[in-house]
Amino acid sequence: MADPKVVIEFVDVYKIYQVGDSEVRALDGVSFQVRQGEFASIVGPSGSGKSTTMQIMGCLDLATYGTYYLDGKPVSNYGEDELADIRNRKIGFVFQNFNLIGKMTLEENVELPLIYAGVGREERAPRVRQALERVDLWGRHQHTPLEVSGGQQQRCAIARALVTEPELILGDEPTGNLDSHTSAEILALFAELNREGKTIVLITHDDHIAAQTHRRIRIMDGKVAADEELDADRHPEPSTRHPELDSGAHPEKIAGGARNDEGAKLRKSGKAVA
Ligand SMILES: Nc1ncnc2c1ncn2[C@@H]1O[C@H](COP(=O)(O)OP(=O)(O)OP(=O)(O)O)[C@@H](O)[C@H]1O
Ligand SMILES: [Mg+2]
Repeated sequence: MADPKVVIEFVDVYKIYQVGDSEVRALDGVSFQVRQGEFASIVGPSGSGKSTTMQIMGCLDLATYGTYYLDGKPVSNYGEDELADIRNRKIGFVFQNFNLIGKMTLEENVELPLIYAGVGREERAPRVRQALERVDLWGRHQHTPLEVSGGQQQRCAIARALVTEPELILGDEPTGNLDSHTSAEILALFAELNREGKTIVLITHDDHIAAQTHRRIRIMDGKVAADEELDADRHPEPSTRHPELDSGAHPEKIAGGARNDEGAKLRKSGKAVA
């Protein structure tokens, strides 16, 4: 049988920030591939370039040099509208701080990516319900994020990531704000989604979490220091808690709602999504 297709391919990717007179090499020539159906982790110390890697993988940012191929196509060829569409349809994001909108109910949060995608109301309702049921949260759908626990907020964020049925799920420290028991539950949910066919890449600086994925890519000083296959059959271990800084990513962008996005245009004109 042919190998699964390569979904993500970094070829000598650099990300260089100019800060005053000096330059910060957040990524210093990173190359790796992730194939369809993989469950991979990216690990490394604080400041090593993990979030930068994820921002580029998720088309939230572009490389300074080098090429990022998503499904075999260089991402730098896409315009802002196409990138917003890719973020909305192809990729589901899950972050450490959940990035839910506090004034909206869980149901409305999960509905948002479908509104941006231009999906009509009739079709949205059952898809939102299915996504919330998938993470065992239907019944809490009319609560706001502050009215549920951290683990429930993260499950809601996972439902929001799933609702557009993306093939790729990216998590940046998705268990970083959770206690060890809840982390284990969330990790088990990712593992289930992977068994159902999703390609998943989780960023973590928790080796216990990484050890439960099937592949571990270690980044040090903006370079790939190791890239190892792990024993997929090992028993899950409880994680430990590592609080760290928020990702700073904007919920609207995560939901695929960039400024010039088609769904937003439709919404403004009152068409199609009412
Ligand atoms: N917008 C920016 N401007 C300047 N430097 C930046 C910017 N974003 C990131 N960096 C720098 O790039 C490097 C990599 O940052 P990154 O956020 O990718 O690290 P990380 O591995 O995710 O760390 P952590 O585990 O603390 O989240 C760091 O030195 C960081 O200070
Ligand atoms: Mg980070």
